[in-house]
Amino acid sequence: MAPAEHFILAARVDDVRSQGRLLIQADGHAVVLFADGDHIYAVDNRCPHMGFPLNQGSLKDGILTCHWHHARFDLATGGTFDPWADNVRVFPVQVRDGEVWIDLSPREDVRAHQRERLQEGLEREIPLVIAKAVVTLLSAGDDPSESFRIGLEFGSQYGPAAGGAGFTIHTCMMNIMPVLDAEDRPRALYHGLSAIARDAAGAPARFVLRPLPISRPAFPSLKRWFRQFVEVRDAEGAERCITTAVRTGADDQQMAEMLFTAATDHRYLSIGHIVDFTNKAFEALDIAGWQHAEAVLSSLARAYAEADRSEESNAWRHPIDLVEILESAFGDLPSAIESGRGQRGQWAGRSSLVTSVLGEDPQAIADVLLEALRQGCDPVDLAGAVTYAAALRIARFPTSNEFTDWDTALHTFTYANAVQQALRRTPSAEVVRGVFDAAMSVYLDRFLNVPPARVPEPNGAEDPEAVLTKLPEIFDRQQQVNEAATLVAQYLANGDANRLLAALGKALLREDRNFHTIQAVEAAFCQFEDLRGSPEGTHVLVAAGRYLAAHAPTMRAQGQTYQFATRLNRGERLYEETERVLATILFMDIVGSTERAAALGDRRWRDLLASYQNLVKQEVTRHRGRNINFAGDGWLATFDGTVRAIRCAQAVIEAARRIGLTLRAGIHTGEIEIAGDGVAGMAVHVGARVASSAQPGDVLVTGTVRDMVSGSGIRLEDRGTHTLKGVPGEWQLFAVTR
Ligand code: FES
Repeated sequence: MAPAEHFILAARVDDVRSQGRLLIQADGHAVVLFADGDHIYAVDNRCPHMGFPLNQGSLKDGILTCHWHHARFDLATGGTFDPWADNVRVFPVQVRDGEVWIDLSPREDVRAHQRERLQEGLEREIPLVIAKAVVTLLSAGDDPSESFRIGLEFGSQYGPAAGGAGFTIHTCMMNIMPVLDAEDRPRALYHGLSAIARDAAGAPARFVLRPLPISRPAFPSLKRWFRQFVEVRDAEGAERCITTAVRTGADDQQMAEMLFTAATDHRYLSIGHIVDFTNKAFEALDIAGWQHAEAVLSSLARAYAEADRSEESNAWRHPIDLVEILESAFGDLPSAIESGRGQRGQWAGRSSLVTSVLGEDPQAIADVLLEALRQGCDPVDLAGAVTYAAALRIARFPTSNEFTDWDTALHTFTYANAVQQALRRTPSAEVVRGVFDAAMSVYLDRFLNVPPARVPEPNGAEDPEAVLTKLPEIFDRQQQVNEAATLVAQYLANGDANRLLAALGKALLREDRNFHTIQAVEAAFCQFEDLRGSPEGTHVLVAAGRYLAAHAPTMRAQGQTYQFATRLNRGERLYEETERVLATILFMDIVGSTERAAALGDRRWRDLLASYQNLVKQEVTRHRGRNINFAGDGWLATFDGTVRAIRCAQAVIEAARRIGLTLRAGIHTGEIEIAGDGVAGMAVHVGARVASSAQPGDVLVTGTVRDMVSGSGIRLEDRGTHTLKGVPGEWQLFAVTR
């Protein structure tokens, strides 16, 4: 029991007993006192889920139920039965001479609790729990690398681990964190951790293969075996080589040599992703520590074994056999590097090399790369020049291209960047092959610059502050690719580059998590560090700005979840009906209504519609929703609880089926504007579009809804990504199956 001096007088026992519950303010805490049987309990009045006042909840059989999303708590301990909600804080109570005294001494170790919550959020893939844990931890002064480590350990155990997008996003977010505004750092962590959780969701646990039972096999043998196993696509043999090498003491440089050599044994593996994932795995270990190497690096083996090899693709073989050109060049690589070794630092051909790489002759490209090495070009610098050429493909990408081709240019750029970082770890002749692959990919991408978009030249005429104000506005509108490029270039003429990086980072984090955009921005930031203050540095950030603008705005639904977490952390109220409120929007309409009306005739159709509207009103009221309007055979209602909206939709569909009507429903959660008796806002529009994408009898929901009902027992089936008419971006939709 806490020392008596921490107790304060809260109320008279009679007052609590006579009313059953009593809300008090004590030292800045809103505390609700409950009388239950012989006991009196004191509970934080703020529901830990989203802040609803618990003095408005229900108490039955010792269980306190919050009325917003139905989280249930054991009144005595505060423990929740619903992990998405968290335990509610209870205060020790003493009854002294007819008075209730409560102990308000601080909860022990907030950080340890929130780390546990983060783990739980990852395990159950509940973005709101992840966001709340990260926001609380960082505002309590926790080092972001601690949350990063928790994500890395969790992500290494499930799903594709380091061989998946989530792991790479997680590391990208950590990499860009130093340039972000302090307020954006938790958001970056939240994006990365949510991506890890999504990759792991539903995946079986991964058990790392034990190392070979020999004490110290020679590293050269393990490296050779690893390459052979990858060659024959034997994932388990390859994994065992990795675990044995790490367990027997191979260091980060040796492991980089082993992995990046195999990653460049074949051409442009999986459109560059293998080298990219491997690079990010090493960067993650730089942050979290080498003790995680066995778990992280071993998880790459399967991706290596299953990778697509570009020598098997038509584009690399016809009409010009690029692989033949490359194999011939690789034969000359060791001697070219060796003959340039004595002249390192004297090479001055970067500009003409970039021009050649952007040219039309693959044989000339291979020749110019070899010649640069002979003249003393450092392999890392060679990779830097090719990466810059790849960035120019994005900077010159005309918007008349196919939208999906942004990804083609992006893959080459991030691959080239990853090869350069790999060479910093292991500058071997084998890994230099990756530079040649990148250059050939730049060559193959030449059709993406026909005609080339103009790369803006800054003239210093714009006030940098005005540019920083305009930049987020540009990203609020679609098709502002060239405008974004101009603003970036103008700003860098006389603005502080660090502030531009922070602004681009902020713009990235506002959008829904998009693997490729995150990769593009992170790689551009990485390249910019080498090119700061030069026109090339400007071009690299122009490329990032253009890519970002091409992929914005999205619906920013992930940002909304994050906003809830920050507002809760600040102690704001989310449940009040202000001008803008958070609500779950339910749209339903009758399938085939025109045909039914024609078949029934006017009078019978009118009667049927009246029955339908009655049953809808009853079910909405029963599920504590708000009927907004009927428009023809369509119907809109709002709810302050996502689960109740889904249950209501299911009940209405079933009741309508019994009177011979087939319905479909769409549900979305977002901020709406209250306008008289009606509602408005993009979230309402989204709900309507989701409904029109639903199959007859389906309740279709957005990813935001999915995030809100995680752990509630509602089962969802992924129905893939959809475009919703009049709504930007792509939407992942889910059908309710139970
Ligand atoms: S369950 Fe209490 S606010 Fe959501």
